[in-house]
Amino acid sequence: MENFQIAIDGPSGSGKSTLARSVARALGILYLDTGAMYRACGLKALDLGILPKDEKAVGKMIPNLSLDILFENGSQRVILDGEDVTNRIRMPGVSVAASDISGHRPVRERMVQMQRDIAGKQNVVLDGRDIGSFVLPNAQYKFFLTADAEERARRRLEEMAVRGITGQTFEEVLSDIRYRDRQDSTRAFAPLIKTPDAIVIDTTYNSPEETLAILLSYLPDEIRCSRSPESPQ
Ligand code: DC
Repeated sequence: MENFQIAIDGPSGSGKSTLARSVARALGILYLDTGAMYRACGLKALDLGILPKDEKAVGKMIPNLSLDILFENGSQRVILDGEDVTNRIRMPGVSVAASDISGHRPVRERMVQMQRDIAGKQNVVLDGRDIGSFVLPNAQYKFFLTADAEERARRRLEEMAVRGITGQTFEEVLSDIRYRDRQDSTRAFAPLIKTPDAIVIDTTYNSPEETLAILLSYLPDEIRCSRSPESPQ
């Protein structure tokens, strides 16, 4: 069987990462969280005191940024300039910085190149905003997740609480989500978009298990039954 690619796009908090992680586990394939890569770029700008919207300063920063994505036992670690920033990229403030910085062409070109390199080597599931439309336009399976903004904010808050990150109110998280929705879908280069060949799944009233079952139902048997004990995750 040829390598296959699964693309999952959608706005913040629509359940992409939970779904992509469980798809990867169910099929024994690699999961690449592309949002984490933009978060690392946003974090670097914040660390350097650069405004993520400052195109000129960001353009100078990007060639000097060293980013490595490591995969260990099914989980992804993000190494920025030699430091493991897997947890720091989830801190409040980094989400908006990631959205702000992701609009710049040099940032996207560098990240997309890395994503295509990783995706070209094995069976993969990628989640993001532009996976089906730009990163992997020939992906065999494309999904677009949606959910009400309030439900997405509630999930984000819960996810942060699990990581021990507190300090943001529901209203603040909701306002960040609305800001990012607008910005991520209106930027000029590779915006968040549903391609005509993507299957839409509204996750507002679904449990993660239900959403997983829906996605798997669109895959052919040979993929659903292909998981081997030697699979990587
Ligand atoms: O999925 P996330 O919330 O971790 O993503 C953080 C930001 O990164 C998001 O607001 C927009 C940007 N992003 C992007 O532009 N393209 C992607 N493929 C993934 C994320």
